[in-house]
Amino acid sequence: MSGWLEGRVIENRRWTESLFSLRVALGTDAPPLAFEAGQFVRIALDAEKGNPGSRVARPFSFVNPPQDPVLEFYGVIVPEGPLSPHLARLGKGDTLWLSSNPSGFLVLSELPDGAELWLISTGTGIAPFLSILRTETPWRRFGRVLLVHAARHAEELVYRDLIAGLQREHGAQFGYIPFVSRERAPGTLEGRIPAAIRDGRLEAAGAPIAPQRSQFMLCGNPAMVKDVSAALVERGLRKNRRRTPGQITVENFW
Ligand SMILES: Cc1cc2nc3c(=O)[nH]c(=O)nc-3n(C[C@H](O)[C@H](O)[C@H](O)COP(=O)(O)OP(=O)(O)OC[C@H]3O[C@@H](n4cnc5c(N)ncnc54)[C@H](O)[C@@H]3O)c2cc1C
Ligand SMILES: NC(=O)c1ccc[n+]([C@@H]2O[C@H](COP(=O)([O-])OP(=O)(O)OC[C@H]3O[C@@H](n4cnc5c(N)ncnc54)[C@H](OP(=O)(O)O)[C@@H]3O)[C@@H](O)[C@H]2O)c1
Repeated sequence: MSGWLEGRVIENRRWTESLFSLRVALGTDAPPLAFEAGQFVRIALDAEKGNPGSRVARPFSFVNPPQDPVLEFYGVIVPEGPLSPHLARLGKGDTLWLSSNPSGFLVLSELPDGAELWLISTGTGIAPFLSILRTETPWRRFGRVLLVHAARHAEELVYRDLIAGLQREHGAQFGYIPFVSRERAPGTLEGRIPAAIRDGRLEAAGAPIAPQRSQFMLCGNPAMVKDVSAALVERGLRKNRRRTPGQITVENFW
């Protein structure tokens, strides 16, 4: 059974007008929130203060690794959305609710081994990968780890300091491949990921793609997940299922 834990905002970092990250502490008497990197938890606010019947909850992926006691979430304001605009307005000391049962299958324990681990994201879909990248498991299990992040604009390529730290720590074992689709930005690939799989630009920036060597995790916009999956299936990869292991493991954010 899931219950609700009260969390307190330590920091609300605004990256752009619509992108924000919340750092949240649980009360000292709360049980630790155990999860595997890549999982999510439901976050909620009461539309009417003090009325649990008015609670609005949505899943959010952990950005922090499991060993970090401060929780972190990365969000976008969906202007008409019932929750995200209110989360974005929270300030230091404000409270929110967290479900006590993190879950989700976008985790390395669900993946077969491979030579390269590809972490493919759009927008806020980078969140679970930032958690995974700060555990030991990907570096122990895969020869190379490639983080692909696609955004509309260059300013939405967030967490660059954290990514630079991973580059320093892991050297050639790590590759970061940013995409920007709605402006030209130096040091990034143009357009969308599926086109770059089909025309060879993604492999040129990362590594060859083949069923014997590649493991892909996809997260974010469901249209991207569908289109990248189709491009990978054309290359002989298939969905990873418990009964029939494959190379494509996905999570849709809506
Ligand atoms: C497993 C899972 C994990 C998730 N993790 C995150 C996360 O880490 N960060 C995050 O910001 N969101 C995440 N989401 C989405 C999140 O749960 C909410 O949908 C989002 O915060 C918007 O909430 P809302 O109530 O304002 O609008 P909603 O009513 O939930 O959504 C309205 C519409 O907004 C669009 N939308 C929703 N989420 C996004 C998004 N993330 N990026 C772009 N467009 C979106 C879709 O078109 C959707 O139909 C996750 C969703 C799932 C299923
Ligand atoms: N990002 C913002 O500045 C912003 C501002 C205000 C509100 N929002 C809210 O957030 C929502 C979208 O946010 P977002 O920018 O994070 O997400 P997004 O629309 O998913 O765009 C992120 C990246 O994914 C790409 N993409 C979209 N569909 C794809 C597909 N089928 N295959 C491959 N790549 C695909 C986009 O390319 P294309 O550019 O080619 O589509 C873009 O590079 C909006 O609907 C709005 O509610 C966002």
